Amino acid sequence: MYGSEKVSEDSERTAFRKAEKKYKLYYDSTLKKKKQPKQVDLSEVLDFNSILESWKNSALIPPGIVPLQSDSGHPFFCLENRPGFCFIPGGLSIEEQYLWIKESLISFPQPPNRTNHNAFYGPIHDLFVAAKEKKVLVEESFSNGDPKAWKLVEEQEVSSRGKGCKSISASVLLRKLRWSTLGLQFEWSKRNYDVSLPHNKIPDALCGLAKRLAAPAMPKGEDFKPEAAIVNYFGLGDTLGGHLDDMEKDWSKPIVSMSLGCKAIFLLGGKSREDPPLAMFLRSGDVVLMAGKARECYHGVPRIFTDTENAEILALELQFSKEEDHSFLEYIQTSRININIRQVF
Ligand code: OGA
Ligand code: MN
Repeated sequence: MYGSEKVSEDSERTAFRKAEKKYKLYYDSTLKKKKQPKQVDLSEVLDFNSILESWKNSALIPPGIVPLQSDSGHPFFCLENRPGFCFIPGGLSIEEQYLWIKESLISFPQPPNRTNHNAFYGPIHDLFVAAKEKKVLVEESFSNGDPKAWKLVEEQEVSSRGKGCKSISASVLLRKLRWSTLGLQFEWSKRNYDVSLPHNKIPDALCGLAKRLAAPAMPKGEDFKPEAAIVNYFGLGDTLGGHLDDMEKDWSKPIVSMSLGCKAIFLLGGKSREDPPLAMFLRSGDVVLMAGKARECYHGVPRIFTDTENAEILALELQFSKEEDHSFLEYIQTSRININIRQVF
């Protein structure tokens, strides 16, 4: 489902695929100077920020969008033709965004949680700190014939290991971090949860947050029990291809999906890839809920924006302006993080 995966010829022709292509990042090859992103027409992208503003100011709302209020008074929106879908603009405060960005980089990729790097390098501890300290991951072979293993070492140590030694810098690995899994471990190759894999419980604070956010989409009188989360990390040009999240047992329970960092375009399709999707902006702090019928809808992220004008992360940049937060600031200025939390059983 990631951007690098092949798509079959048939799926090239669906309405969903067409929308992905429309919004995806392309570079203008006609310009000789610096690579310039091709302009895209964003006029059809729903902007819940401005919808919220116009609703607050003049109670005006575009057709098909239903304004509601949570028990705590926070406004959110539903869509008439996508029951079970909720959009909570600014569902996370700036302090919460700050906290969960840091956790996503420091704690979430820690073993036993797995990341996309596991399959090739095995578990890697403290990747973010290692990148900051310019460490390098090197392949070690053992004279006693033990299988080779990867280990983080200081930059200076690499040269002493000789030319044949395979190595990759921690900062490159951090840039290539695409996902980590919390709680019950999602097995991408099988597209299912592997309950036999060692795992930690979802952190209590994240659990509490997810329960609070899930409330507007929960069946009456039931409790949301977060059991797994997938954290996606996006850099410029990264995409999340159209997909369904169908490996959880109870579809009446929502997926709680939080956006952090650079703005993105989210596509919400229908039951078939042939249904033309709705495009909407996802900004840092926005929360999307998908429950019930909306769980059967194809969705994906064809684009993130990292340029100052479009990323819309000014408030976050201020929050990360302290010297000690510099490495987080640097990361998030060109990245988006999505945490989506699920009840599996
Ligand atoms: C997912 C997903 C959406 C997003 O990980 O299943 O749909 O906003 N993520 O990144
Ligand atoms: Mn999904």
